[in-house]
Amino acid sequence: MPKTVLKTLPAISEHNQWIHPPLVPEIQLHLSDDVLTLWRDTERRAGHEVPPPYWGFAWPGGQALARHVLDNPQSVAGKSVLDFGTGSGLAAIAAALMGASNVLATDIDPLAIAATLRNAEANGVMVQTSSDDVIGSNGNWDVILIGDMCYERALAENMMAWLQSLLADIAPPHILIADPGRTYFPATQTRLTKLSTYTISTSRDLEDRETRETSVYRLSQD
Ligand SMILES: C[S@@+](CC[C@H](N)C(=O)[O-])C[C@H]1O[C@@H](n2cnc3c(N)ncnc32)[C@H](O)[C@@H]1O
Repeated sequence: MPKTVLKTLPAISEHNQWIHPPLVPEIQLHLSDDVLTLWRDTERRAGHEVPPPYWGFAWPGGQALARHVLDNPQSVAGKSVLDFGTGSGLAAIAAALMGASNVLATDIDPLAIAATLRNAEANGVMVQTSSDDVIGSNGNWDVILIGDMCYERALAENMMAWLQSLLADIAPPHILIADPGRTYFPATQTRLTKLSTYTISTSRDLEDRETRETSVYRLSQD
């Protein structure tokens, strides 16, 4: 494990608490309610700048995706699942709980990988992890889960182009995307079919509002 992760893991323990996200009470995650303190302390321990601690929160997209998977176990049972940009690991854990044959949780932030492993263990499930950027690769996954990933233009555009390229395969993956109306979510994309919508309690600190309406979509070929 990289040195940064070893130095900052104690920060995860110190500032976070075991929390059951409001939309997914079946799952417990080690989360924070104070983004700035967690971020500042993580950087102090690492000794350099680190990305925002996305892994310390259950984002509306991740909660909606996990809820959808828990309520529709057939969407993942017996299947190989990729949770791209896993953060805390929430959607990956939901897929593992619902009987996915294997789950790969990826995140380019090694701290998210550490948090995901800790959270998976606390929920009694195994997930594989990778900090590789899998955009552009084809792991022949049956299902791809995308929770709250449209918050940056370049990321959203590259990711959507990659996902669409995977749909051209002979056996395309089942792609589920959950989004609470982020700026770069391509809402008018005709290949998106809305499957479910949830109203999720959020903190003003993170989202500047009390709730966020979040939908789960299937991305499919025309
Ligand atoms: C807003 S968080 C969403 C986390 C989780 N999916 C959820 O909904 O709770 C976005 C996450 O994507 C990760 N990320 C950004 N670019 C990525 C990439 N190219 N590959 C994998 N993870 C990425 C970030 O490190 C961060 O953990």
